[in-house]
Amino acid sequence: MGDRKKYAIIVAAGSGTRMGGDTPKQFISVGGKPLLRHTIEKFLSLSFPVGIIVVVNQEKKEYWKKYCQDYDFMDRYAIPSGGITRFHSVQNALQYLPDDSVVAVHDGVRPFVTKEFLEEMFRQGEELGNAIPAIAPVETVREVSGPESYILRRDDIRLIQTPQVFRSEVIKAAYKLPYDPKFTDDASVAEAAGYRINLVDGLKYNIKITTPEDLEIAKLWLD
Ligand code: C5P
Repeated sequence: MGDRKKYAIIVAAGSGTRMGGDTPKQFISVGGKPLLRHTIEKFLSLSFPVGIIVVVNQEKKEYWKKYCQDYDFMDRYAIPSGGITRFHSVQNALQYLPDDSVVAVHDGVRPFVTKEFLEEMFRQGEELGNAIPAIAPVETVREVSGPESYILRRDDIRLIQTPQVFRSEVIKAAYKLPYDPKFTDDASVAEAAGYRINLVDGLKYNIKITTPEDLEIAKLWLD
């Protein structure tokens, strides 16, 4: 493992509109703990220390701080406020990231990431400047355009996950760009800033809990 200090920006400021219901999915309790805690615990299980920066919506901050106090979970962490989009949430979090570090930006709703996978992602991100996990789709893929659709070459497609790991100077330079709606992850921002993206093997089980069906899977796996 490289010498740089390791950090995790865990984005958990989404409103969870695709899930329905009042509680954003990251705070839903599964297997006796909020999904967000399951996710953070993976980072706390690594064989080296990781500084935790957890981005939460302003109106959920007191709730999360109280949860951490009541359950004696994590005494030291930074808690920047979420922004209007994921891009703005990450941008806020970067103010807490020290220079000459390496950071994994991870969705708070991906609790099935593993210790081994995280350690490998940190190693590659520090070595390469950025490391972005990708998996090949197993289904056939088509592009839709209005009422029409067109077959795509499946071998040319990759589905992108988090954690996306960067040297701090790379991600800080990238997030100086103005917001663009096509920025749905951190690699898209780094790419627009001129960095070559390094895809590495993703992890099939590392699903993003987004819809009620995903939550059913999470309950089966975590309960
Ligand atoms: O909405 P999407 O599926 O892209 O969200 C991915 C992750 O980004 C989620 O963990 C969500 O909580 C987070 N997010 C955020 N701030 C936003 C929107 C999403 O931290 N404004």
